[in-house]
Amino acid sequence: MKATSIAPSNLAFIKYWGKKDEKLRLPLNDSLSMNLSNLTTITTVEFDKRYTDDVVVIDGKREEKEGERVIKHLDLIRKIAQMSLKAKVVSKNNFPAGTGLSSSASGFAALTVAGVKAAGILLSQKELSLLSRLGSGSACRSIPDGFVQWYRGNSHATSYAVSLFPSDWWEIVDVVTVVSRRKKEVSTTEGQKKTASSSFMKIRLEGINEKIRLCKEFIKKRQFTALGELTEKEALEMHAVMLTTDKPLLYWLPETVMMMRLVRKWRREGIPVYFSLNTGQDVHLLCEKKTQKRLLDKLKTVGEIKNIIINTPAKGARLSNNHLF
Ligand code: PMV
Repeated sequence: MKATSIAPSNLAFIKYWGKKDEKLRLPLNDSLSMNLSNLTTITTVEFDKRYTDDVVVIDGKREEKEGERVIKHLDLIRKIAQMSLKAKVVSKNNFPAGTGLSSSASGFAALTVAGVKAAGILLSQKELSLLSRLGSGSACRSIPDGFVQWYRGNSHATSYAVSLFPSDWWEIVDVVTVVSRRKKEVSTTEGQKKTASSSFMKIRLEGINEKIRLCKEFIKKRQFTALGELTEKEALEMHAVMLTTDKPLLYWLPETVMMMRLVRKWRREGIPVYFSLNTGQDVHLLCEKKTQKRLLDKLKTVGEIKNIIINTPAKGARLSNNHLF
């Protein structure tokens, strides 16, 4: 059978960085995120006896390296479905992959939902989230709708994400400013292996539950300034850990730092905007809908920005009839 799914990427206000179990991708802490309406992956999967090998095509290219990770995921689905048919997988991102915009989150969420349906099995949302997590940790947060919490759990069955608030809960906007198309040098999977070597990690983990509590409260009460301040501090804290590991990770480019400084300047000028960062050079700018126009006017004046992607809170991964082949 053939099935297609479209899934959003997500932006974590409280980040996932560091695992307590590499293989099961169990994180050291809970994280909290928002699905992004305009950073999406669409994936079609077909299991059929006419395929003699798994074929993986991502953004028009037959994938060898990323393909291996996809095939490992197909193996998990085959195991659950108790079948051995090979598959064809075609996947398309509507944004550059591998530059830190979390294409693995949308990618593995879409692969899971399409793959499970194509294999003819029925899983609950919780089970889809658990399975997505095995492909890429942050992918488990792209399954439920809107604003999402990933419970770290302590076993495969207890580490999954749930929706806290629906996508129409709050009109906030994440404007992604793309400053380079350069692929990151160290993957998140590799980068995270070193997390424990940062002496800040212990301190980070001591405060993380309180951060999760506050973040939930600010979203519940729609307190933008408080959420913005927390988000910005949290992104910098994650990068403080990255910068202080045994092999320090520096994901920023000069343009990244420029954007962070501009955000602070615009705030001084009265525009309520805050930044967040993942494992890439591009910067997420968070504002309320009512501020979007003023922010976009500012962004037009910045020549270094190659592209902007405007996102609102979105639903999680879903099935689609628009098959890619
Ligand atoms: O799921 P991964 O392995 O791509 O990890 C992504 C982690 C960050 O994006 C840096 C933070 C987060 O919580 O999304």
